[in-house]
Amino acid sequence: MKVYVPRDASARALGADAVAQAVIREAEKSGLPVELVRNGSRGMTWLEPLVEIETQSGRTAFGPMTPEDVPALLFKDITKHPKAIGPVEDLPWFARQTRLTFARVGLIDPLSMTDYEANGGLQGLRNALGMTGEELIDTLKLSGLRGRGGAGFPTGIKWDTVRLAQAPQKYIVCNADEGDSGTFADRMLMEGDPFTLIEGMAIAGVTVGATRGYVYIRSEYPDAIEVMSEAIRVARLNGLLGPSLLGTGPAFDMEVRVGAGAYVCGEETSLLNSLEGKRGTVRAKPPLPAIQGLFGKPTVVNNVISLATVPWILANGHEAYKDFGLGRSRGTIPLQIAGNVKHGGLFETAFGMSLGEIVNDIGGGTFSGRPVKAVQVGGPLGAYFPASKFATPFGYEEFDGQGGLIGHAGVVVFDDSVDMLQQARFALEFCAVESCGKCTPCRLGAVRGVETVDRIAAGDASAMPLLIDLCDTMRDGSLCALGGFTPYPVMSALTHFPDDFATVKEAAE
Ligand SMILES: Cc1cc2nc3c(=O)[nH]c(=O)nc-3n(C[C@H](O)[C@H](O)[C@H](O)COP(=O)(O)O)c2cc1C
Ligand code: SF4
Repeated sequence: MKVYVPRDASARALGADAVAQAVIREAEKSGLPVELVRNGSRGMTWLEPLVEIETQSGRTAFGPMTPEDVPALLFKDITKHPKAIGPVEDLPWFARQTRLTFARVGLIDPLSMTDYEANGGLQGLRNALGMTGEELIDTLKLSGLRGRGGAGFPTGIKWDTVRLAQAPQKYIVCNADEGDSGTFADRMLMEGDPFTLIEGMAIAGVTVGATRGYVYIRSEYPDAIEVMSEAIRVARLNGLLGPSLLGTGPAFDMEVRVGAGAYVCGEETSLLNSLEGKRGTVRAKPPLPAIQGLFGKPTVVNNVISLATVPWILANGHEAYKDFGLGRSRGTIPLQIAGNVKHGGLFETAFGMSLGEIVNDIGGGTFSGRPVKAVQVGGPLGAYFPASKFATPFGYEEFDGQGGLIGHAGVVVFDDSVDMLQQARFALEFCAVESCGKCTPCRLGAVRGVETVDRIAAGDASAMPLLIDLCDTMRDGSLCALGGFTPYPVMSALTHFPDDFATVKEAAE
């Protein structure tokens, strides 16, 4: 009997380790031949710890499990187990997804190369090794893949810039800082299917002529750091990394670097400074990292999901990927549904689903049962959307057209108890704490912003135009998007939820 208990950080936080220990204990007590696999999460957080059992009739799930539920799982008719929920693939929440990047997450043993290959792994790299640099770039460009870290820049164009740059050394840097509030796709991918990221980085190396890669992971992700480090070791042993990729390709090797924990170190130039051992401050652009990046050399900097999607595209073709999506947002996007929501978790789907469907249908509305008041999409720099904007389809241009951004696709839900003035204050306070200090509009503006919101909260109506003016200055004058985008949550709160700023109106009357 094969028993799967996730080693994913969210499952562990919900008690997966105790469940795994109970499985081992009960199996030892009874002498039952049980093979325990610590897999990734299937992404339905409200069902974690979600345990799966592989029997002769297939794989079936149970959740949320406690150690007390384990004996009945091993020794009784599992179809009658009180936590039985059937095969994961048949659950409506799961069945509605289009899992391309996350196809293997939760399905396989994350550290088994055998499992990885048996489930389609390495096909992308094998195909890539038979292609020229131009062909690889064309494939990527035609797939329509855009960066999943936030800015949505076309991946093929970025890689081509690095490919064409002349330098004795080039680098592939994976941005796994994942600082956006309510996001966890990078973490889940690294903990559940790390070889996909390694394969994606190797393909990037082959394409642009880089022999060295770094995965920059935030220190708050100890599980991801552990799994990625071990996966790199296993990949080296199996020839997926090393002096010749898969025994026939060029050299490529990589390592994990741990960030000290600063939101701004997710910004690519700040990240490069941090990787070089310097303080994590933003560099002025140009020069672009693609021309002068890590240690001054041409560097691809991509998000985990961007890189981990490349093997699927190379294995299945650019047309298959481009078939999914809407407008200029091609392929799939791993939505991370979080906050005050009934069914939170990771939901990979083609671009184009409306925000309302995501929040109410997939997410099931609020966890509290109260009406949804606001949804923040795209992390701490994303705008707050009211229910009147729920028809907005999930896509880069579509959200931009509504004054928002999709960022790293975090969707954080708030019920009607939220005070949007306090949320506006929080956005500015966050910026003040996380600012790298390099430019004045952000370094000083964020602090003055907090003070100005406090004046508004105290009923000082004259502070309102000042806040708007300050937001304009931060948006137009900041060096990077931390200062430049903080006005989005602030101004969207002000525009869409004026009642929460009502003290101002009252004071003015
Ligand atoms: C303040 C700030 C924080 C950022 N944090 C992240 C992050 O945690 N992860 C990420 O991939 N990109 C982050 N970005 C975007 C990166 O600067 C960069 O655009 C991205 O890593 C490029 O990869 P992509 O093209 O694959 O999206 C951040 C940007 C800013 C301005
Ligand atoms: S906007 Fe803020 S974080 Fe970005 S460079 Fe300026 S001070 Fe640094």
